[in-house]
Amino acid sequence: MTRPASEVPAESGAAFSGGVDLHSHLVPGVDDGASTVENVLEGIGRMVEHGVDTVVTTPHLEGSLTLLPEAFQRRLETMEASFAEARTAVMEAFPDLVFLRANEVALDHPEPDLSDPRIQLGDGGYLLVEFPRLRVPPGSAAVLKRLVDEGNRMLLAHPERYRLGEGERALRQITRWRETGVPFQVNYGSLVGAYGPEPRRRALWLLRKGWVECLATDFHGRPNLRLYIRDARRQLIPEEVGAEPEPAFWQLLTSTNPRRILGGEEPLPVPPVEIQDGIWQRFTSFFR
Ligand SMILES: [Fe+2]
Repeated sequence: MTRPASEVPAESGAAFSGGVDLHSHLVPGVDDGASTVENVLEGIGRMVEHGVDTVVTTPHLEGSLTLLPEAFQRRLETMEASFAEARTAVMEAFPDLVFLRANEVALDHPEPDLSDPRIQLGDGGYLLVEFPRLRVPPGSAAVLKRLVDEGNRMLLAHPERYRLGEGERALRQITRWRETGVPFQVNYGSLVGAYGPEPRRRALWLLRKGWVECLATDFHGRPNLRLYIRDARRQLIPEEVGAEPEPAFWQLLTSTNPRRILGGEEPLPVPPVEIQDGIWQRFTSFFR
């Protein structure tokens, strides 16, 4: 059950600056995200308050649809029309924001055609991909590897969130994805337990290994949903270093790397972040 907006704790104040968010559902009426332009404006307003200056919104798209040219074309036209309407309103309200559309492509078929630039993140050719309905199909790492070998540049959405059981088995599966070379996008909310304890454990494990290239909201465009940006930041950055300049790893995860991906550049390595005694601390003073 979702809570009414009035009960959602405030998350005001900038959490960083120059933020780039590569994963959200802010095209009204085309997926399980925002249903109205008003929802989009409310969500974007909160993102801007948090220091986000670039939003690439990514409505769900089944990869199998790319193999059905007419249906694919119709879906894209529907999305584009709804996005254009939302974008007009967003640009009027937030003229300094960069607001783009791509897709979160579900790998529901082992051989999708990922070549259409209209589904890609910006002009750089990267695609945000996921496994459908948080379930992992057989041979998922082999599929990712083949798509990489064919020249596709992908960013795997929330590897921490899939239904993989508990403990080591899940980590082995995530490791196999990692071995394909596909960079990882983790949800801010996962870091604070928004999807339960297991995704949180995995998200923290990924950060500890230095296997997260960027963070994103995966915001579904409703006033009663949090962004979790500030909450995640509090988890990762001790209060005493919370002021400017931003710690290097936070900048990499929230700004530098998503911006590089948007421009078609490989993300930079993010140094491991360590946890001690249940409290996240920066790995070394190198991050200061
Ligand atoms: Fe998503």
